[in-house]
Amino acid sequence: MTPSLTDHLLTADGVTVRFGGLVALKDVHITVPPGSVVGLIGPNGAGKTTLFNVLSGLITPDTGTISSKGHRLSGLRPYHLANHGISRTLQGLNLFPGMTVLDNVMTGGERLAKTGLFTMLTGLGRFERDERALRGRAMAVLDELGIAHVAGAYPSTLAYGVQKRVALARALVNEPELLMLDEPAGGLSSEELAELATRIRDLRERMSVLLIEHHMDLVMDVCDHIVVLNFGAVISEGPPDVVRNDPAVTAAYLGSAEESDDE
Ligand SMILES: Nc1ncnc2c1ncn2[C@@H]1O[C@H](COP(=O)(O)OP(=O)(O)O)[C@@H](O)[C@H]1O
Ligand SMILES: [Mg+2]
Repeated sequence: MTPSLTDHLLTADGVTVRFGGLVALKDVHITVPPGSVVGLIGPNGAGKTTLFNVLSGLITPDTGTISSKGHRLSGLRPYHLANHGISRTLQGLNLFPGMTVLDNVMTGGERLAKTGLFTMLTGLGRFERDERALRGRAMAVLDELGIAHVAGAYPSTLAYGVQKRVALARALVNEPELLMLDEPAGGLSSEELAELATRIRDLRERMSVLLIEHHMDLVMDVCDHIVVLNFGAVISEGPPDVVRNDPAVTAAYLGSAEESDDE
């Protein structure tokens, strides 16, 4: 059964974003149904990160709306995402260098939002219990990602691929309904890439994923539905086989092949 739009975890409609004279997004529509992996692809500069930032509440679009489960999210801010069951990892790592892996992952939890200052002051016992529960969840996620043994390490002492997994663990600690990933494959070895593909397929069993990727292979491999951006506009969308064989997509990628060779 096709889920109705009111079930959709995140929908952007008619989104336009301008940076000065540059139109970074033009009337973009994208939606993420429950239990699906949606891919957002396109050459460098296509507007993927800008759309990701709009969906995260980091950028307010010039026009258009963002909604979740049929409710319009006006004035969306990044810290509201958790309330809507949405987590994200950013392009790059954004780990806190002065914190251990475990503490980094725990920052993805709702500890303060749930406990609040009043409870912290009046109910220290409850605060400690929440803290312990969050620590347990963080360890469980690290374990699931095969990196529990580095819980006490500082991020800079770890290989890049392991740091990427820490960033993913931080996004998973709240057990989101929707996980948004901005270029999770960047900088990974082919072995790590294959592992990431398996991971995303496994996650799909319990959440939806919006996967933003520059490279097509991973996206073709794991996505149910793919949206292709070029120069800020949706130029193609559909299941992997349709998008793969769309001449407009091939042309967009060929047109940008030279500049993206170094990635
Ligand atoms: N904060 C910004 N100010 C001005 N231009 C920006 C800003 N962010 C992105 N752009 C421009 O918007 C376009 C889309 O960028 P981006 O969303 O980062 O593309 P992608 O993630 O697909 O590579 C590019 O031309 C980029 O240079
Ligand atoms: Mg980007």
